[in-house]
Amino acid sequence: MHSYTVFSLSNSLSLTNNISHLLRKRVGKLYATKFSDGEVYTRFDESIRGETIVLIAQINLPYTNLFELFVTIDAARRASAKEIICVLPYLPHSRQERKDDTRSSISARLIADFIEHAGADRIITIDMHSTSIEGFYNIPIVHIFMNNDFVRHIHTHLNPENICLCSPDFGGLKRIKQYKAILNCDMAVIHKERLRPNQVSSMEIIGEVKDKDIVIIDDMIDTGGTLCKAADLLLQQGARSVHAYCTHGVLSSNAVQRIESSGIQKLVVTDTIPHEKLGKNMELISCAPVLASAIDRLMRNKSIQQFNQTGLP
Ligand code: R5P
Repeated sequence: MHSYTVFSLSNSLSLTNNISHLLRKRVGKLYATKFSDGEVYTRFDESIRGETIVLIAQINLPYTNLFELFVTIDAARRASAKEIICVLPYLPHSRQERKDDTRSSISARLIADFIEHAGADRIITIDMHSTSIEGFYNIPIVHIFMNNDFVRHIHTHLNPENICLCSPDFGGLKRIKQYKAILNCDMAVIHKERLRPNQVSSMEIIGEVKDKDIVIIDDMIDTGGTLCKAADLLLQQGARSVHAYCTHGVLSSNAVQRIESSGIQKLVVTDTIPHEKLGKNMELISCAPVLASAIDRLMRNKSIQQFNQTGLP
């Protein structure tokens, strides 16, 4: 077992407390503040010389969170930490992992370069938007999934015989196939076209959804546009109910009100991004247990794939 200390960025105190409680570890002293113009400043208030540190960092927007990560990794490196493991449950800019047909950036790659350049040695993350992002990093990535927790929840709330899994786009097809392998149920996929970011122009369902309890699986929900439009269409085509499981609840703009007034019976999100308040038809499953298990197994040099495999009880 490697010895290590857990630290938290200022946006991640609650998640860090839950993880460290499960690991029975104390949280190390990391001071964070801002200059009056908004510049971030962090400082380790205990020695980390020669140590492995685990930095829990929810780096959802605003960009201050991301910048706080950069300066903290830099501070750790300059304080001679032996190994800097960054737990980044949600990776912003993951939707920009390739050039579209305009003169645009591949900013997911840029984020990878920044994190690596700052001095991170390893990253633990959950349900990446696209696994190709792993290739943007030269350092090891531990990619863990919410599949087991979501499947458990689906099993306890829905009759497996009437479920039809649905991916709201072709990008999520591989994801729902993993769920199908355990739930052994029907599946459908939606052909989605976008006008511009966050604006869906058209949708077409491929698959039979009439009288089915639809379970939409997606890596993230941002404005809720994709999910609400998909739910409307599914219900119009005779679906009995629509439930959704989205790991990263970005929930920007008026997403919460939009989901509350939609036909979605239940949306389950996780705390990869902190939430102060969720809508009345929303439920939270914490990612703290899977992260704690991943950290613990990593520190014990135990296989992570074993516990990560979909289908474990
Ligand atoms: C798209 O590829 C993602 O998987 C999500 O479906 C999308 O980013 C959700 O965005 P919004 O909620 O704004 O439609």
